[in-house]
Parts: sequence; structure tokens; C-alpha cells
Amino acid sequence: MILDVISLKSFPLFNLLYSMTHLIRILLVKALLAHALWAGNFSTIQMKPFGNDQDGREATLYTLKNENGMTAEITNYGGIVTRLFAPDRNGHFEDIVLGYNTIDEYLEATPYFGALIGRVGNRIADGKFSLNGEDYSLVTNNAPGGIPCHLHGGTRGFDKVLWDAKAYIENNESKLKLKYTSVDGEEGYPGTLEVTVTYTLTNANELKIEYHAVTDKATPVNLTNHSYFNLRGEGNGDILDHIVTLNADNMTPVDAGLIPTGEITPVAGTPFDFTQPTAIGDRVDADDEQIAYGGGYDHNWVLNKRGQGMTLAATVYEPESGRYMEVLTEEPGVQFYVGNFLDGTNVGKKGIAYQKRTGFCLETQHYPDSINQPNFPSIVLEPGEVYETTTIYKFTAR
Ligand code: BGC
Repeated sequence: MILDVISLKSFPLFNLLYSMTHLIRILLVKALLAHALWAGNFSTIQMKPFGNDQDGREATLYTLKNENGMTAEITNYGGIVTRLFAPDRNGHFEDIVLGYNTIDEYLEATPYFGALIGRVGNRIADGKFSLNGEDYSLVTNNAPGGIPCHLHGGTRGFDKVLWDAKAYIENNESKLKLKYTSVDGEEGYPGTLEVTVTYTLTNANELKIEYHAVTDKATPVNLTNHSYFNLRGEGNGDILDHIVTLNADNMTPVDAGLIPTGEITPVAGTPFDFTQPTAIGDRVDADDEQIAYGGGYDHNWVLNKRGQGMTLAATVYEPESGRYMEVLTEEPGVQFYVGNFLDGTNVGKKGIAYQKRTGFCLETQHYPDSINQPNFPSIVLEPGEVYETTTIYKFTAR
């Protein structure tokens, strides 16, 4: 005898079994969802107000979370990465970047904590350059060794402006796209520059930064991010035990004003040789003229590059926590700065004053003062060209 579904459903036992499987199915889906949420298996984005900038415009703080539970807090004021939580070898998350709790502290004084830097990152000798027969004179806002220079884009560089922001999730990765139009003549630079920077917190525990810019007049461009890292956790002492490798056989030595001499010299046999893993503290105070100029490491390393594309620029290992950071970039250089100028005047998120060498920066970039150095790779962007470069900070533990 053949029974159809309708007649089957009229059996009480079938009814019971049917509703039970239905219930089990619902419970299973709920349990899976709860597990996914509990385990943080989804990338998420949250937003909250971050106070007003110097023009009274409201900034926002975005919390990007990946499926492993790693989070990055980034504000559209200066594109500043205010917090970055990465796991240690026991899966314990700690905030590993220096910074402040409030926008007011950033407005008051910051040594560029976590910020996007532009239009030209690093130094321009005496704030002067010539381009296409025109002389340009920029503000000199820095004077290492008493010698004035232009630093990190000027008085109000890209680190101090409010960017238009769009946060979104794409392929289960949280992203923050920031846009800024730097008008012709801003901070003395020629040409209107349209800049887009996209931060992505990938599910491989990477903070990926994609830079993009176009101009309507030839102009120098050198964008970077100025995060200060302490892989033991911000506020947890100095960074002297961090073990660093730099994929660089050469560097650009500087004069007393931290302006490159124009030479590209081998690091072999100097305190600048990080081709083998070496603790920052081992030679940071070595008796060396270059070290003396920087008050420690504050120099540009020339990356060993194989063609275009991404290069592993640096690795940093912190033995106590086991945190390990890799820096990959398309840029030809990296400024390795170990916080020599931190002096306890900046009080961080935990209420702890950041003393000398409690954070280090790996600012991927073109070499300093490139606009005045004919033998360095050019930083001039022409109309019709697209400035495009990517840097990745990847976090694991061992
Ligand atoms: C420079 C340092 C400077 C610091 C600003 C770094 O990129 O290399 O010399 O003091 O930025 O905090």
C-alpha cells in the first residue's frame, strides 16, 4: 500500500517525529549562530562619536573586529589607529599601540600616534624644493640638531584633518575607507590631491593599509602610517627587548638635521645591521655618529626588493608575550624610529606616561627628502598618474 504525505501526517507518531526533527533543526541553527557569535566568527563594525575636531566637526571612532576577535579602533580624525588588540601566545588580547583615550588629547599634543601622514611623510630639508621650474617653500615645523626642516606634511598635515569615512564589511572583512581632498596650496604643496586610504582588518590578523591618490598638478606624495607599537602592550614598559629584523642591506645616512646625505650605505658592520634578528636595546646607544644624530634609531632603511610587489620589510618578536609582527610593503624604504623623543609628557590610555623608547614605529615610505635627492626614487606624482601602495602589519604569536 502506498501512503501519501498527507495521509502519513495524520499518524500521531509521524506528527510527533516531524515536530521533533523540526525543533532539533531550529535548536541546531540557533546553537551554531550562538557559537559563531560567541567565538566571534563574524567580522563586525561598530561606530561611536569621538568628539569634535579643531573646527568643531564631529569625529567618529570605528571599531573593526575580525572573525578571530582581533579589533582595531580607528578614528576618521587623522585616520588615527587609536587601539589595536592582538593576541599573545595564550590567546590573551592586549592593546599594542600607543595613543590616547580622547580626541582632545590628540588635538593638544601628539607625536603622530597612530596617524596617517601626508602629503609628504618624513623630512624635507629646510622646507624647500623646486618642481617644474617653480620654487616651493613649506613651513619648517621641526629642527633636529637645531636645523629647521619640514616634517610629516606641515602644521596641519593629514594626521590633523577630518577624513570622510565609510565603514563596511566585504567578504566577511571589516573595512574603513577614508577620503580626503587636499586642496591646491594646502600646507604650501602644489595641486589638489584626492587621497583615499582603506584600512582592512583581515581574518589573517592583518591590518592592511591601501593608499591611493591622484593629483591635478605635479606634486610630491609620500604617505605612511605613524603607529607606535609595543608588542608587550601599550604602557607596559620599554621596547628594548623586542627582537627586530629588517630586510635591508643598506640605509640612507643622515646629517645632524636628520636629512639624508644622499648616500646609500651598507649596514654590515654597523649598529644598523638588522639582517639577523637583534634586540633593539643591543646597540641603540652604540658609540656611532649616526646613532648620535638620531638619539638612537631614527633612520630610513633601504629595503631589499625583488621587483615590484610586496616585500617583507621587517619582523618584530616580543619574547615575553610571544607576539610577532610582520611588516609587508610595496614601498622602497622604512623609517625605523624607536621613540627616542618620547619623554613622559604624553600620558597614554592606561594613564601611564610614555617614557623614552616605550614604542617603536615602522613607517613604510619613500626615502626622506626624496624631493631634493635626485638619486632617490621619485615621489613626484603627475596628473593622470595614480599613486597606489599597500602596507600590511600582520600579527601572530609563537
Ligand atoms: C621621525 C622622528 C620624529 C617622529 C615624530 C618620526 O617619523 O623619524 O624623528 O621625531 O616621527 O614623533
